[in-house]
Amino acid sequence: MLTNPQSDILQMELLTRLHKKAPGVHHMNFSQKNKPSPFKQRVIEDLKDHVSSGKVAVFKKYGIDFVTGRRQGAYLWDIDGEKRLFNLHCNGGVFNLGHRNEELIDLLKESLGELDIGNHHLISKFRAELARALAGSMPSDLDYVVFGVGGGEAVDLAFKVARAYTGRTRIISARGGYHGHTGLALAAGDGKYRNPFGPSAPGFFQVPFGDLDTLSEAADSDTAAIILETIPATLGVALPPQNYLQSVRQICDDRGILLILDEVQTGLGRTGKLWAFEHFDIVPDIVVLGKGLSGGIYPITATVLRQPLEAVFHDDPFIHVSTFGGAEIGCRIARRVLEISAAPEFLDHVNLLASRFAKQIEGLRQKHAGFLVQLRQLGLMMGLELKDEISGPLLTKTAYDQDLLMIYANNDTRVCQLLPPLIMRPEEVDWVIERLDLALSSARRLRPVVGVKTRLEKIIHKFI
Ligand SMILES: Cc1ncc(COP(=O)(O)O)c(C=O)c1O
Repeated sequence: MLTNPQSDILQMELLTRLHKKAPGVHHMNFSQKNKPSPFKQRVIEDLKDHVSSGKVAVFKKYGIDFVTGRRQGAYLWDIDGEKRLFNLHCNGGVFNLGHRNEELIDLLKESLGELDIGNHHLISKFRAELARALAGSMPSDLDYVVFGVGGGEAVDLAFKVARAYTGRTRIISARGGYHGHTGLALAAGDGKYRNPFGPSAPGFFQVPFGDLDTLSEAADSDTAAIILETIPATLGVALPPQNYLQSVRQICDDRGILLILDEVQTGLGRTGKLWAFEHFDIVPDIVVLGKGLSGGIYPITATVLRQPLEAVFHDDPFIHVSTFGGAEIGCRIARRVLEISAAPEFLDHVNLLASRFAKQIEGLRQKHAGFLVQLRQLGLMMGLELKDEISGPLLTKTAYDQDLLMIYANNDTRVCQLLPPLIMRPEEVDWVIERLDLALSSARRLRPVVGVKTRLEKIIHKFI
């Protein structure tokens, strides 16, 4: 996200410099108003010296020196206690149920009184119960669950199963899609994340999302699986074209290819239905779940398989293990998360919030016509499509200055992702919209200045 391609960093750097020079933009806050406390400064220095000097440098350039301190519900506070952010990103859905959801914290405390990670070889009541609940929440014979710790790991397992089951190699994914940074998941992603790290796993092929012809051409007799995010978040909350997913399902059926849907971000009520694929009336062969399943409390992910696919483990059920995958405490948390997220009144609440956002953002679209191009939306899976690729990073910054944490889509920087916590109150939508209005005004005002400067930089660059 913020550790983005050089060009984006350059834009923000330009912006910071420009701010100093350009008259009429002084209400923008490109550096923190107050000096960080020595304690906070120490945290930043430690991070710079021992975790990532690059990230600290980027945040400095953005004028974003937020260090997360207290957190509750929809809010995050800076460690110095002065700045408070409304979380409109939620780590891609990790905080669907808000930060430190009280019910989950109580359950965690209770679980700590009796449980630990558990034994990953032995039979576990908690894994069995969560797997039954997940299978019960899914259609058809999506009955088996393999647990993991991270989303990438869960995607890797999906590919392994698809290859073992079909005896084929090729995995097709969408260009600009995102499935994580582990081995096989990385191989299914864009080159910019892979290329610096040497040879990638073979057998992967990317096609443009939404382009059926290219997909159909690529889906050959050696194709084991097609993986798609039901709505690709990193690609800018790209909504699938009409009947696209249904046609992909058909191609898979016709050619013996497995359809893997990555619901790491879209699952658990985010789109107004428990699983986003329910909107499209299709049943995938494998569903990958992560992020929100943790309740923001205990990392756990799941790869849900259609019943026949489990045969892959018949010869040797220990051929895939994950020491911490499906940790028992995590299973208890995830089961409660699933119960909360599947409740009809919870999904009604999500849909109510979604229509409140839709109505008010339409007002903003009219007011900021030409800059705010459109709202991409399915429930509370939302993206603000802006004028051009500089506008996403710009709005991220101006929104931050208005106390909104909103992050642009890394693989389509015209779009700012808008993923509020699903538990926010309806009145809070109005407050968010007021702040967003101010952030859009600032971004719009700054945009031409940044554009001219960028073009000049490019011209100068040509001559040196
Ligand atoms: C759609 C999607 N799939 C998979 C992943 C990978 O998850 P993790 O970071 O837990 O490995 C992510 C992470 O952002 C994601 O957004």
